[in-house]
Amino acid sequence: LVSRSFSPLSSQSDRPFGIAFDIDGVVLLGDTPIGGSPRALRRLYDDSGKLKIPFVFLTNGGGFSESKRAQDLGQLLGVNILPSQVIQGHTPFKQLVNRFENELVVAVGKGEPAAVMSEYGYKNVLSIDEYTSYFDAIDPLAPYKKWTTKPDIDQNSTSKETAKRKISVQTQRVQAAFIVSDPVDWSRDIQVLCDILRTGGLPGRESGKQPLLFFANDDLEYQATFPAERLGMGAFRIALEAIYNRINPIPLAYTSYGKPNPFVYANAEAIAETLLRNLMLLNKYGENSINHRLGWFKTLYMIGDNPKIDIRGAQRAGDRWFSILTRTGVFKGKDNHSEFPADLVVDTVEDAVDFILRKEC
Ligand code: G3P
Ligand code: MG
Repeated sequence: LVSRSFSPLSSQSDRPFGIAFDIDGVVLLGDTPIGGSPRALRRLYDDSGKLKIPFVFLTNGGGFSESKRAQDLGQLLGVNILPSQVIQGHTPFKQLVNRFENELVVAVGKGEPAAVMSEYGYKNVLSIDEYTSYFDAIDPLAPYKKWTTKPDIDQNSTSKETAKRKISVQTQRVQAAFIVSDPVDWSRDIQVLCDILRTGGLPGRESGKQPLLFFANDDLEYQATFPAERLGMGAFRIALEAIYNRINPIPLAYTSYGKPNPFVYANAEAIAETLLRNLMLLNKYGENSINHRLGWFKTLYMIGDNPKIDIRGAQRAGDRWFSILTRTGVFKGKDNHSEFPADLVVDTVEDAVDFILRKEC
């Protein structure tokens, strides 16, 4: 690869370009960088390590705060990543905080789902691990489980305080459940969510109006370290919905976030524009340009591995999005995907970045 001096301001046009990277199956498999991703990303920085091309990570995954994820990704990939460059499936939950700021809400999924929500400003959020611990025998299979889902509750609290807390949790209605990341204990989570959802947020009581339910994404499958795709949050949603609709007369109501929803791409564009502004690369366009809304980028590149999610989303997001499909994840075909063909198919993320830089600079 030839190393050239690149700028996000294309030489062929007055308007800049930005890049959105999918993570699982493009940049990482599990915790392992793939497809030359560290090398590819380094090309977006100058020699002193300063960012020169506005880019974001646009993943449906999550479970940790954007700041922690930025730090972890930075370490794995060897570049400096800002928390604002990390857009996860659950990032839009930040926008819902006003509706639920002081209400009891339950956060589900791997990692630290309640910590994620607290960082977004939710003041009365419990992880499903902690919530479940206040209801004796709510999970009849718990004694047979060889792992522990016991939450790390305040060790200094007295048994009197714990008892008080238990009563308070048991008598407060859960107003919403947020599936922040991939659920770990499906059997317990489906059981407890069914309890919360069909009782109006008071497990063990009579039926009531369904609390709101939000999913960070609806991915049926995604690529992790195992050679075949793994079941994702969309698969969990199908399982929960199928069971809930058999035991409850009113069908499950829910909202799913994440790619391929077009608003996720619009948000990524807005963040990339802010990055561009912060890079002080807009002086060429004058001060008036600072107050514009979306539309600065000539081209936004989405590099993804999942045709139904990443590529379909880019297609829906509008003409300025150019989709690049890699062969390192869910898509393993030789030719383009038949139903959701990408604008370009390449082997790796490194090939994708090489293509973009050659085209733009
Ligand atoms: O759980 C992660 C998965 O659903 C997708 O992640 O980075 O491929 O959008 P990503
Ligand atoms: Mg992916």
